[in-house]
Amino acid sequence: MTTEPSTIDTWNTYSNHQLARGLQLPDLTRWDWGTPGAGPGIEPFGDVNGARVLDLGSGLGRHAAHLAALGADVTAVDASAAQHQRAVNRYPGHTSGLRLLCADAVAHLRDADPYDLIYSVCSMPYLDPGRLLPVLVNALVPGGRLLFSALHTNSTGTGPSSELVVRPEILRLPGTTEDHQVMMWTLAPELWKDLLVQHGLSLESVTTIDSPDPGNHVSYRLYAARRPQKASNRTGIDSTVVGG
Ligand SMILES: C[S@@+](CC[C@H](N)C(=O)[O-])C[C@H]1O[C@@H](n2cnc3c(N)ncnc32)[C@H](O)[C@@H]1O
Repeated sequence: MTTEPSTIDTWNTYSNHQLARGLQLPDLTRWDWGTPGAGPGIEPFGDVNGARVLDLGSGLGRHAAHLAALGADVTAVDASAAQHQRAVNRYPGHTSGLRLLCADAVAHLRDADPYDLIYSVCSMPYLDPGRLLPVLVNALVPGGRLLFSALHTNSTGTGPSSELVVRPEILRLPGTTEDHQVMMWTLAPELWKDLLVQHGLSLESVTTIDSPDPGNHVSYRLYAARRPQKASNRTGIDSTVVGG
């Protein structure tokens, strides 16, 4: 965990800026995975009623609240105290089906009972895959799903890395020209696939999310993965998963 603490500091700065602006964002009317109005919406989830769900890096909590309103039992975890505070301000007291947690997602996943579904809107690339992926598979029930969106091409048109390296990206404070550097794992789809498979998950689909504005280079990918019902052992023979 070398670069990640400074990332959380930057998110605290971002969030305190938004708190100071008193910005009131509306509730989601259409689910987005990074670019409002582009790409798939909530359809990849299917029916979430009664599902035990984790929002990894939940920020303001709007996505989590949206799923909770559809009957999911959602835990929303964010490591930034200021982001968490914004979420608590927005959803004070008991919002049915929504639990807001301020914690490192990896620490939470190590201890939590397994989830039916873990999703993340643009937050996974802030966590070191070498720290996150080893705990992810056992944080899902067998057959459980992982849905996450990740930066693919940044605003300058720089595409993803085909090597497992962390690199700086720019986070601009909304309403200003003040830029902050954040370290991210902006990885190519083939590399995400290899990493997920190495850590016991199967990748089911990758969906491109480009901006509808042709002048905007920013592009995301939505990854849909699953913990298999059965794990393959080193001989390639399937064995039934009995625990985790
Ligand atoms: C780009 S924001 C996305 C927030 C939210 N998912 C959304 O779409 O509005 C990334 C979030 O990831 C959180 N984050 C970064 N590292 C984390 C970690 N190790 N554990 C939990 N949250 C983390 C940050 O604090 C930040 O709120």
